[in-house]
Amino acid sequence: MNSTVRSNVLLAAVAALACAMGFAQSSGEAIYKQKCQNCHGPDGMANSGIGKVMKVKPVNDPEVKKLTEAEMIDLARNGMGKMQPYKDELSGAQIKASVDYFRTFIK
Ligand code: HEC
Repeated sequence: MNSTVRSNVLLAAVAALACAMGFAQSSGEAIYKQKCQNCHGPDGMANSGIGKVMKVKPVNDPEVKKLTEAEMIDLARNGMGKMQPYKDELSGAQIKASVDYFRTFIK
């Protein structure tokens, strides 16, 4: 490996690390957009293709509305139906932040 290739590899590693760190600090909105929006939709209405296929309930469904913040955090941590558990992928704070963002869609 010549030195140009080596420094490119190093640069890529640094960029990947910076990216991972940025994600760890990112807001609930950013986490939601990256991890949840595909199924729950940009406005929580679950009207994306995957949301429909998976029969994800829209945020204004009475069943969803009656859930407390703590119950939602629990569901996201441990999974629900076809939704995977997120406890190994996201920190508690990240799950809380994304759930809080999801809850802003409840009118
Ligand atoms: C692969 C698709 C998918 C992804 C990605 C996903 N969910 Fe879900 N989610 C579901 C499904 C399916 C359910 C259960 C069906 C239902 O009742 O809506 C559900 C249920 C929920 C519920 C319970 C309320 C409800 O809608 O029934 C909450 C809260 C929730 N998800 C939050 C999240 C959060 C926060 C994320 C991101 C960290 C996330 N979900 C990512 C598919 C997904």
